[in-house]
Amino acid sequence: MTKQAKPGSRARRELPAPLAQLLERGTTDHYTDPLLYDFEYRDQADDVEWYCALAEERAVGRTVLELGAGSGRVAIPLASEGHRVLALDRMEPMLAQLFTKLERLAAAGEPVSGTVEPVLADMMDLPLDDASVGLVIAPFNCLMHLYDWRELLACFREVFRVLEPGGTFAFDVLLPDLEWLRWDPNERHAVTPFVHPRTGEAMIYSTNHEYDPETQICHIRIYYDRDEAGDGQLKPGREPEQTVHLAHRQIYPDELRALLGIAGFELESQTGDFLDLSLSADIEVQAVICTKPRS
Ligand SMILES: C[S@@+](CC[C@H](N)C(=O)[O-])C[C@H]1O[C@@H](n2cnc3c(N)ncnc32)[C@H](O)[C@@H]1O
Repeated sequence: MTKQAKPGSRARRELPAPLAQLLERGTTDHYTDPLLYDFEYRDQADDVEWYCALAEERAVGRTVLELGAGSGRVAIPLASEGHRVLALDRMEPMLAQLFTKLERLAAAGEPVSGTVEPVLADMMDLPLDDASVGLVIAPFNCLMHLYDWRELLACFREVFRVLEPGGTFAFDVLLPDLEWLRWDPNERHAVTPFVHPRTGEAMIYSTNHEYDPETQICHIRIYYDRDEAGDGQLKPGREPEQTVHLAHRQIYPDELRALLGIAGFELESQTGDFLDLSLSADIEVQAVICTKPRS
């Protein structure tokens, strides 16, 4: 049965209405079409290997809680390796897609050997008992959907509460790239033709973004244009078929260390690109491992 947090339990600070709307869209739009989400991130694999290796090392016989589990890109491989995974997300369509994929695997005679249990909840308010899980993971930038340090700290405190003493918390978020954040917000970048996985239509993907240094939030827009001419070229002045907002708060390395420390964690490592690299200007992803002390 799906575990659920109390409705309306999310306590977000009072924000100006336009910003509140942008943040709501920025944490919802991108996750309403899981088929498209899975298509866009189909080649992402380094992180899956990293989390599976960590679970193999630290979570055999213990429960794994995945925050922002989405459509199961990481949860399903973990369950395939025999783990019991609690897949927590605030978006029902993403969790529904995860279970469709599990059913398909079972129907194809390849059921996962572990288990996946859905938890429809917010990662700042975990509907789980104290000290009930051995490993908590938060893959692929999901913590960047917490939009100020208070929200991040609330989440870290919840993770600390539900972890067994000696348990591990591991996550990854982008390393802020100041040059990229300052790109021209009016240009379209990453222009890529593709065939829509659900509609079969020829489309063009592109993005741009605007960074607010005060809130540290990067407001990304993902545009989907119809490729009517079939030439993969955007037509100036034409409105896109769909615009998706994605809001990512940039989290600087020292802020992470400070908040993890305040929540009570001991930092084990904070390295780059899932390769144990030190955090230099060329690194895209900061991957963090920390532990809840035994006493
Ligand atoms: C980038 S996706 C990652 C999904 C999956 N872990 C993966 O690696 O593909 C981020 C996920 O976090 C979820 N999410 C964002 N904010 C959340 C919150 N406050 N509580 C729970 N889930 C949240 C989104 O719904 C989305 O499924």
